[in-house]
Amino acid sequence: MTVPLRTANQIVVKVDLGPRSYDIAIGRGLLASLGQRIAALRPGAKLAVVTDQTVARYHLAAAEAAIESAGIVSGGVILPAGENSKSFATYEQLCESLIVGRLERTDLVVAFGGGVIGDLAGFAAASVRRGIDYVQVPTTLLAQVDSSVGGKTGINSEHGKNLIGAFHQPILVLVDTALLDTLPEREFRAGYAEVAKYGLIGDAGFFTWLEKHWEEIFEGGPAREYAIATSCRAKATIVARDERENDDRALLNLGHTFGHALEAAAGFSHRLLHGEAVALGIVLAFAFSARRGLVPEAEAARVARHFASVGLPTRLSEIEGGLPDADQLLKLITQDKKVKQGKLTFILTRGVGKAFIAPDIDPADVRAFLADKLAEK
Ligand SMILES: NC(=O)c1ccc[n+]([C@@H]2O[C@H](COP(=O)([O-])OP(=O)(O)OC[C@H]3O[C@@H](n4cnc5c(N)ncnc54)[C@H](O)[C@@H]3O)[C@@H](O)[C@H]2O)c1
Ligand SMILES: [Zn+2]
Repeated sequence: MTVPLRTANQIVVKVDLGPRSYDIAIGRGLLASLGQRIAALRPGAKLAVVTDQTVARYHLAAAEAAIESAGIVSGGVILPAGENSKSFATYEQLCESLIVGRLERTDLVVAFGGGVIGDLAGFAAASVRRGIDYVQVPTTLLAQVDSSVGGKTGINSEHGKNLIGAFHQPILVLVDTALLDTLPEREFRAGYAEVAKYGLIGDAGFFTWLEKHWEEIFEGGPAREYAIATSCRAKATIVARDERENDDRALLNLGHTFGHALEAAAGFSHRLLHGEAVALGIVLAFAFSARRGLVPEAEAARVARHFASVGLPTRLSEIEGGLPDADQLLKLITQDKKVKQGKLTFILTRGVGKAFIAPDIDPADVRAFLADKLAEK
């Protein structure tokens, strides 16, 4: 069955994974087409819409209206907002709710929220009845450009983030860029760090474009759609090459090794959001690359300047409440990353758009670098 879909104001990015391929549809106002798209993909399926309290308050009525208008039967699960929901307790509650709601193998879960809801609902979908298909309707910038694409799902262990999970690809990602209009500016800005990351990894032209047009992305015009689509295309290309991160999917971790250590040092709290840590981590990855003679200092300065003009942190001294010393930070890095024969793997760079995997980094070099950075004001 084919239902004609409005194509005028949408950009479609394909994630090419053979039988697990799916579309990412991006455009302002696309939420209204959710029911119609699901009916076309999976006629007769029942839905369970999983969301958090904040997203529910702003947008659940519109999502339900879109689903009902297509004559689809749906139920909903509303969970507390925030990272704490990526826990065994909430996961259990969600799985039991899906079972009580009589969701069958042929039905669908809709993950309607930021990365927390996407990871949690995706993992519940992967597990209940040994796997139910699901649709991602991401509502934060971070989720629209990163977490909703690629099929990584999961929850946190008391020993670390995202340690329990599954690869489970969605069957559709619907990105309505208007949903971001209600997102707090700080969350939007943090998500922007991931957008810039794609330019810095492998698309110098995109980064140059961002330097000129970033304000239009924040304002919400067509530049926002373009930036999100370009980001999704970059992620889709890498995921299609290396779905399970055996190889160059690791490039997506640019800035994340330093970033995770800083997030952990700040207690994964509001002192430092993930995207803020990524901005700082990318600035550090460029500075560390410059110190090793891989990239000119001026290029590293250019990247820091861009993040600073957007309002993202670029110096360690900007982290509220201070940081532990270089030894402690290095410990956080080596907890997060495997040390192979005494060496660490980092994503380093030869310039904007030229990130690469460096598997042979001496922890002592990282420690000395961090000590110098901590001493800077
Ligand atoms: N699976 C992946 O590949 C992947 C990649 C990156 C990050 N992640 C995960 O994503 C999570 C972070 O995602 P996030 O930054 O989206 O956080 P989040 O889901 O916690 O959302 C941030 C806050 O914004 C609120 N919110 C969401 N949409 C809103 C809207 N439209 N208007 C107003 N408020 C809104 C939420 O209620 C929450 O309070 C982390 O758990 C991280 O591990 C996963
Ligand atoms: Zn990230």
